[in-house]
Amino acid sequence: MIENHFPQGLAIGDSFIGREEQMAWLMKNINSGYHTLLLAPRRYGKTSLAINTLAQINIPYTEVNCYLALSASAVEKKIIIAVQSLLEKLISKPEKILTAIQSFFKKGEKRWTLGFKGVFGLEIVPDSNDDHPENILTALQLIEDVLEKQKKTAVMFIDEIQEISSLKESKQLGAAIRQFAQHSKRLVFIFSGSNRRMLIQMFDDSSMPLYELCDRIILDRIDTQSYECYLNKVAKKTFNKSLSKGTLQAIMQFSERHPKRIYNLCFHLWRLCENQNKTPDEAAVKTAWDLFLDQRVRDVQYHLRRLSAGQIKVLTLIAMDITKELSGQIAQAKVKLAGPSIIKALQVLEAGDYIEKDSQGVYRVLDPLIRDILVRDESVNLA
Ligand SMILES: Nc1ncnc2c1ncn2[C@@H]1O[C@H](COP(=O)(O)OP(=O)(O)O)[C@@H](O)[C@H]1O
Ligand SMILES: [Mg+2]
Repeated sequence: MIENHFPQGLAIGDSFIGREEQMAWLMKNINSGYHTLLLAPRRYGKTSLAINTLAQINIPYTEVNCYLALSASAVEKKIIIAVQSLLEKLISKPEKILTAIQSFFKKGEKRWTLGFKGVFGLEIVPDSNDDHPENILTALQLIEDVLEKQKKTAVMFIDEIQEISSLKESKQLGAAIRQFAQHSKRLVFIFSGSNRRMLIQMFDDSSMPLYELCDRIILDRIDTQSYECYLNKVAKKTFNKSLSKGTLQAIMQFSERHPKRIYNLCFHLWRLCENQNKTPDEAAVKTAWDLFLDQRVRDVQYHLRRLSAGQIKVLTLIAMDITKELSGQIAQAKVKLAGPSIIKALQVLEAGDYIEKDSQGVYRVLDPLIRDILVRDESVNLA
């Protein structure tokens, strides 16, 4: 099988680079029982960081991905499935799992149904179907009880938690998790989500349940040196040569070290150069990036349909690097919007992770793929 040097999904093995400090920090949090909130825009490597860290430590863990959990009942279901799988990891014999669960339920009034599906598939079914936050709390307490008896710790990794914030029961769900998390001693949480929307809605509002419960790890892009080192290693393996400074610079420039896009670009670049039997150079980087844009143009246009015409205009200005005085006269004339409407559009774009501000307060489009497709269509977008 050909080695996948530039995975489009999770980065694992050698393709997971950098992030040493954040991994060490996360490990310390887990080992000392601190819950962690991993924050970064989409596709910055949150899931990869959590999974690679968890793979390195000898603590059982389970994952809950809130992506596409469209109701409180779906969140409950996902958490219960995660609890089932954790129980199976903690207790090897099915009879013992049943005994452990029964002994937990004997202490309270709840009578959940327990069973086995298939060969070993444990199934736990709550007695009341309606109170989802309460059921979540009970399922978590069950795990804590088993962990306490075994004197073990475990991790629950709740990914894409920002999805919960858009549910109508988000407050109650957050409250249930918090109620548990603030007292749990043996089940440690890693929450992960893309930042602004969630920060505002779930974690940054002091009246909201998850506020200040977690240590935060904020992921930025990976440094140039880590990428150069890895790309040269792969180039030596595949082309028997390292890449020139100019080639590396071009890769960094087009992808802006966006973790997903740099691997998208390198995937195309390597394909192109392997087919043509040549080592990547600057021209090839440009060709590969253009090929990638051609391939994705429809997806991006479809994705951008969720923005208003005004928001697309403002996003196009930023893509074109017209970032000075964005709500001033010149910008107003270009996008045909009044100052306050531009400011509103900027807020929406920032909350939706389309744009970010750098340390000098200058906006940039977060995803270089979106940036360059907007620039290509600039005259249409600003028409
Ligand atoms: N440490 C890393 N080193 C190299 N590439 C990474 C790293 N972390 C993530 N990536 C790449 O970035 C992209 C997004 O990773 P993912 O973990 O799914 O991000 P998120 O969970 O933040 O959306 C993938 O293409 C992945 O291969
Ligand atoms: Mg992820």
